[in-house]
Amino acid sequence: MGLYIHIPFCMRKCNYCDFLSFGGVSEEEHKAYFLSLLHGIKGYDEIYSNKYYVDSIFIGGGTPSMVEAGLIEELMAGIHDSFIVDQNAEISIETNPKTLTKKKLNTYLEAGINRLSIGAQSFNDALLHTMGRIHSAEDFLDNYTLARECGFRNINIDLMFAIPGQRMSVWMDTLERAIGLEPEHLSFYSLQMEEGTPFYSMSKAGSITEIEDALDRNMYHSGVKALKNSGYQHYEISNAAKEGYQCRHNLKYWSMEDYLGLGLGAHSFIDGVRFSQTEELTAYTREGIWEEKGGAIVAWEQKNTRQDNISEYIITGMRKLDGLNLIDFERRFGQTIEGAFKANWNSLQKYIDDDYIVKTAGNMRFTMKGIDISNRILTEFV
Ligand SMILES: C[S@@+](CC[C@H](N)C(=O)[O-])C[C@H]1O[C@@H](n2cnc3c(N)ncnc32)[C@H](O)[C@@H]1O
Ligand code: SF4
Repeated sequence: MGLYIHIPFCMRKCNYCDFLSFGGVSEEEHKAYFLSLLHGIKGYDEIYSNKYYVDSIFIGGGTPSMVEAGLIEELMAGIHDSFIVDQNAEISIETNPKTLTKKKLNTYLEAGINRLSIGAQSFNDALLHTMGRIHSAEDFLDNYTLARECGFRNINIDLMFAIPGQRMSVWMDTLERAIGLEPEHLSFYSLQMEEGTPFYSMSKAGSITEIEDALDRNMYHSGVKALKNSGYQHYEISNAAKEGYQCRHNLKYWSMEDYLGLGLGAHSFIDGVRFSQTEELTAYTREGIWEEKGGAIVAWEQKNTRQDNISEYIITGMRKLDGLNLIDFERRFGQTIEGAFKANWNSLQKYIDDDYIVKTAGNMRFTMKGIDISNRILTEFV
């Protein structure tokens, strides 16, 4: 299975972000959090370690690279004590520019972390400032170069487009400069205005203007073209990689494979059951909580019905550019996809006729035009 570890701390919150993370948390609190995390890992050891072995680990956030490297070292040691980790496991950590040092990077490598994800977002300093980022483009370049010098051979760069105030030429300049660095993997997300964020209020108040849909789509398609022209495989709606560097961990989410998520608010999907940990930081780090709860602070749990499984298989699987393997669908669910959606197949067939979806005997996937309205189409499979 895949193992996800959530580190909910950032230097400060960016203006657009609604991920579960907090700025301005003290080092003492980081330590208390990691203590809880290690208790949690130990607790799940008894439940799962004999049943599964781990072949991907993703330390995400938040900004895991802002905490002392020694804590990440202890975390990795805790994971190895409790789980059988495959020798060739993909082990990623999410990092922010300006938080990396030679010492940190070397500690990560020694702890077995072999994939680095760095959030550059944009190479335009004015936009980075509007977004509330803690770094400049140059800070990113410094950290990227340092990571290569230290020996990281598998690096992802996160970029965002459709940032208020961003012009097409500015987006393409960022993307081309990122491609020029030859990272093994690139993620490119269209900025979403999330309720409750400063950007959301600023947009409601009219102090920033959301990018129009047509420009957003234009940025997306131009970006995909540039990536493909530079030899990247566009393998998921928002992700591209050089051959052999698709993110194994994230592919598990898109292929409905098992994963265990530990840490604040982390989600898991194991043996057909979805569950998540508490989102309350004080509850998570309260002394004694793990003993009380018998090794698991589960805030929510749901046994998937067969229909849930079918819908989720399609919604997650269709994110991949290769789409769904319909033979696998039949093997898993004992019927064809047409059979599973008998009642509304006619309306789904229309998307195939209109070239939004391509369906062959063994496969079903979105066309590039289909990706633009994928959310709308997917609601028909729920
Ligand atoms: C969990 S964040 C963590 C990465 C790291 N803390 C950073 O910011 O560089 C993962 C990525 O999600 C993307 N992201 C965050 N908020 C977003 C939003 N509102 N819309 C689109 N993408 C977003 C950013 O590209 C970010 O790098
Ligand atoms: S985008 Fe990254 S650094 Fe910014 S608040 Fe979200 S998780 Fe933290």
